[in-house]
Amino acid sequence: MCDVNFPCLPDRQAFSPIHRYNPCVSSVHIIYASTSGHTEYVVDTLIPLLQKAGVIVTKGLVDLAKPEDLMKADFLILGSGTWNTGGIEGQLNPHMHTFVHGPAKDVDLKGKNVAIIALGDDRYFYTSRAGEHLRNFIQKHGGKVLGDALVVINEPYGQEEKIRKWSEKFLTWIRP
Ligand SMILES: Cc1cc2nc3c(=O)[nH]c(=O)nc-3n(C[C@H](O)[C@H](O)[C@H](O)COP(=O)(O)O)c2cc1C
Repeated sequence: MCDVNFPCLPDRQAFSPIHRYNPCVSSVHIIYASTSGHTEYVVDTLIPLLQKAGVIVTKGLVDLAKPEDLMKADFLILGSGTWNTGGIEGQLNPHMHTFVHGPAKDVDLKGKNVAIIALGDDRYFYTSRAGEHLRNFIQKHGGKVLGDALVVINEPYGQEEKIRKWSEKFLTWIRP
């Protein structure tokens, strides 16, 4: 029986013996891009909700990510806002774009379950298309997309309840 109140570990200890010896403890790594801080706010709102349920969570900005970081936890979450990268609306944040088309362009995500966080602004015609780009990236590299994306349109401040509800669904996806 899994203990949902399992203590949270700081990032340094995240994949320590406590994780190896307790198969009930799931780990999640979140790789995200955030230019004005919106995606980071969503990630930082989500993390304590997952930790409270006993999940070991680590996060890292995509700017600093290495391809092997995609595989470092049981589950992966990719998060990005939508940008006009390259002059065309509806693209990934430039940092996420650079990562998926650069260092991570040949990764093998076979067997990896990946959830998506996508942000956007409804003043743009191609609202929140970052989620579709992330979905394509995951599937093209053999990964499995977990559930529906957490789509946050416009400023995330005040949308904490939406994030909380998504966290509950996410927990059911990683604990069948
Ligand atoms: C230069 C620029 C281009 C953008 N292009 C789009 C777009 O095409 N579609 C969209 O839905 N939102 C677009 N947005 C809005 C951002 O996706 C939104 O503000 C998001 O919350 C930013 O997240 P971040 O602060 O984590 O980077 C754009 C924002 C900027 C600054």
